[in-house]
Amino acid sequence: MSTQTIRPARSFQGSVTLPGDKSISHRYALLAGLAEGTTRLSNFSTGADPHSSLGCMEALGAKIVINDTKTIDVTGTAGSFTQPSKPLDCGNSGSTMRMLSGLIASHPHIFTLIGDHSLTLRPMERIRKPLMQMGAKLDLVDGHAPITIYGGPLNAIDFETPIPSAQVKTAVLFAGLQAQGTTSLSESIRTRDHSEHALRAFGATLTREGDRLSIAGGQKLRAIDATVPGDLSSAAFFLCAALLFPDSNLVLDAVGMNPTRASLLDVVTALGGAIKVLHVEEKHGEMVGTIQVNVAPSGLKGMEISGALSAQIIDELPVLAAIGPYTRDGITIRDAKELRVKESDRISLVVRNLRAMGAEVTEFEDGLAVPGNQKLHGASIDSGTDHRIAMAFSVAALRAEGDTEIHGAEAAAISFPEFFTMLDTLAQR
Ligand code: S3P
Repeated sequence: MSTQTIRPARSFQGSVTLPGDKSISHRYALLAGLAEGTTRLSNFSTGADPHSSLGCMEALGAKIVINDTKTIDVTGTAGSFTQPSKPLDCGNSGSTMRMLSGLIASHPHIFTLIGDHSLTLRPMERIRKPLMQMGAKLDLVDGHAPITIYGGPLNAIDFETPIPSAQVKTAVLFAGLQAQGTTSLSESIRTRDHSEHALRAFGATLTREGDRLSIAGGQKLRAIDATVPGDLSSAAFFLCAALLFPDSNLVLDAVGMNPTRASLLDVVTALGGAIKVLHVEEKHGEMVGTIQVNVAPSGLKGMEISGALSAQIIDELPVLAAIGPYTRDGITIRDAKELRVKESDRISLVVRNLRAMGAEVTEFEDGLAVPGNQKLHGASIDSGTDHRIAMAFSVAALRAEGDTEIHGAEAAAISFPEFFTMLDTLAQR
């Protein structure tokens, strides 16, 4: 375990280009592995998680060439995965495990999907149900990994996602792409739609009527040349850091602004950020832009985050909670029970670490309430081996009195290995 010491800052300034989006990198890696031809992926995520997806594709017969850390060529299997000679190691990545299950379920092999301790604690029944309905045979251990998939032909289904989860939606779409008939799916809360864009980019036809998505089975994918937009969820740490200092000036170049992720920018604005969009364009259906963030003269306000918004910015909630004490009116988060089954129980860890820094906070089953106008002191923080907890408390530490030690800081590399170096460049001391 490594420890990072974070010193308080007096301002947050600079311009950065973020590494590629984790969610999009996963999808491009998985679909490139299934497609025919060689896909070139530029600005691929440097995080360990998307590399778990690449590793699984390699084990399934795709050829992976890492040209430099961020440019990767994937020669796909043209629709026919091979029998892997060992278990498919998904590492820490729930996205890999859930989306891959849907992608491989129709292939006539036996697959075992494994992961690290944290991944073994995460709920997998949510993907087993729809895939079983499609005719797949999947064994779990008490609802968890390791997963054994006995692959075989699948039938289309009409599925309503019971929980808002883009990973479950994707598992069904990826299975539907290779099933007999047309699979339909509806979501009560619209989750990130990267899979829909990625499927279309690789040549599949997918339709949406209101809340209902449909995909016909038997479609073939062809390789693409794509650049992954910068990761807005990684940007969230710097956006929140910028909010902590009245004279902040932060420019984020080529960052993903997909509308199903961009509610974060509305939240930053509501809290007191002044966001200027300097440039925006579309690539393979994904919006990519350059944004500048300053702090509005009114300063840092508070807010309640609940309902659909909690689901849409689920990955950003830990850092928003971590800056809650520095807001005027505090931050309350509700309807976010899913946080308890992420890489860690994020509600309980955020509460514990905020208290370690001297904050008052109330824990709810589905969220927490952090009153505003509090002063925090440096403390010893436990990341719980969760990347987003390590980074969220590094941000909180910038306005604390005294130094903060982040234990288990290496977890940041799951999504954002460059985090501490970039933070150090942007934080003015
Ligand atoms: C993701 C979806 C979300 C999110 C995760 C990435 C994705 O998970 O928390 O970090 O790429 O689809 P759920 O689908 O479980 O909500």
